[in-house]
Amino acid sequence: MKKNILITGGAGFIGSHVVRLFVTKYLSYNIINLDALTYAGNLENLKDIDHCSNYFFEKVNILDAAQLKEVFVKHNITDVIHLAAESHVDRSILSPLDFVYTNVIGTVNLLNTAKEFWKDDFSSHLFYHVSTDEVYGALGNEGFFTETTPYHPNSPYSASKASSDHFVRAYAETYHIQTVISNCSNNYGPFHFPEKLIPLFINNIINKKPLPVYGDGLYTRDWLFVKDHATAIDTVFHNGKINDTYNIGGFNEWKNIDLVKLLCTLMDKKLNRQSGESEQLITYVKDRPGHDRRYAIDATKINQELGWKPSVTFEEGLAQTIDWYLENTEWLNNVTSGTYEKYYDNMYADRG
Ligand code: NAD
Ligand code: DAU
Repeated sequence: MKKNILITGGAGFIGSHVVRLFVTKYLSYNIINLDALTYAGNLENLKDIDHCSNYFFEKVNILDAAQLKEVFVKHNITDVIHLAAESHVDRSILSPLDFVYTNVIGTVNLLNTAKEFWKDDFSSHLFYHVSTDEVYGALGNEGFFTETTPYHPNSPYSASKASSDHFVRAYAETYHIQTVISNCSNNYGPFHFPEKLIPLFINNIINKKPLPVYGDGLYTRDWLFVKDHATAIDTVFHNGKINDTYNIGGFNEWKNIDLVKLLCTLMDKKLNRQSGESEQLITYVKDRPGHDRRYAIDATKINQELGWKPSVTFEEGLAQTIDWYLENTEWLNNVTSGTYEKYYDNMYADRG
């Protein structure tokens, strides 16, 4: 059957990689990118594929149920891959309601639209919900998140994502819509908005600005190259068990401070700076409230059941990422002009 796949949030960081992969790999599918183009959405991320005949863009907010319905009818949507979300933890601490609206109510709007549109035959349609490992809360020094780890979200962002996951499961149970959920670890790579650790620090190193490390810097994250997340989504979309859930990660844990020091070393070399120069920019600042100490994904299930594994090592992925930012200064300058400076001052001014 010909597929007309609605990818929400396709103008964002991960969404743009998923859209590109599907548009270029599956020429017989129509890919409809639906995005409200918030501060995090950027059509520049897709300018290399926007001429493709199987690619369509709809500027729509997932809070607008009437417009969602129009898009389903216009494109005869057969499947959904849902990535649209407010995604930054620090912003969720400042404005939790924005996260409730988009991540919870927006997801339920989308579920309702799909349920209504597919009601005559749920069996040939899939609603794929892209979620995060943050729903599981924080780990101590040992252990991993598995698919059966109880949910224990600690930030307004992760609480809103946990809620959206619960709604997706509830719609599968109650209405028999076919779903799948994946929960992924921290992504990094090209087109990452410079509010998150790696692109923000790359941008600050380029501009010789302070590198604001939260708290003691010993918080741990599990990093995955964004293109590997996109291939994992492709794998789960095509081969995942209906109504099941898959953890996605690369068994690649780094303490923030070690990662920041590695980034400084690599960038000093690329920028022909003296060894140790960028490390001097490291500044310990006030911690993030409710900061989760450690995340670590057990990705055994997706590896053993579906045969997916990451394609690049962290060293390769990070080098590619740094090169991309150094070669795409126009992109970086565009996204850091305008309201970005105000955001930055507001977020970091009282961190000391
Ligand atoms: P992002 O912030 O870069 O992109 C989000 C996209 O959603 C943007 O294009 C934005 O314009 C769009 N959007 C936001 N609100 C919208 C609305 N109301 N209606 C329509 N579009 C809207 O996010 P990302 O980092 O690419 O994350 C994508 C998804 O993956 C999110 O669901 C996130 O929770 C999940 N995720 C992210 C990571 C990560 O490390 N970034 C890890 C695991 C899971
Ligand atoms: O685990 C998956 C999640 O990863 C995704 O669901 C989120 O959408 C994504 O934003 C990311 O969340 P984090 O909070 O882990 O990412 P962030 O890049 O904001 O922070 C990574 C770590 O770096 C975290 O311990 C906080 C710290 N940090 C972050 C910033 C922005 C700093 O020390 N200084 C900073 O300026």
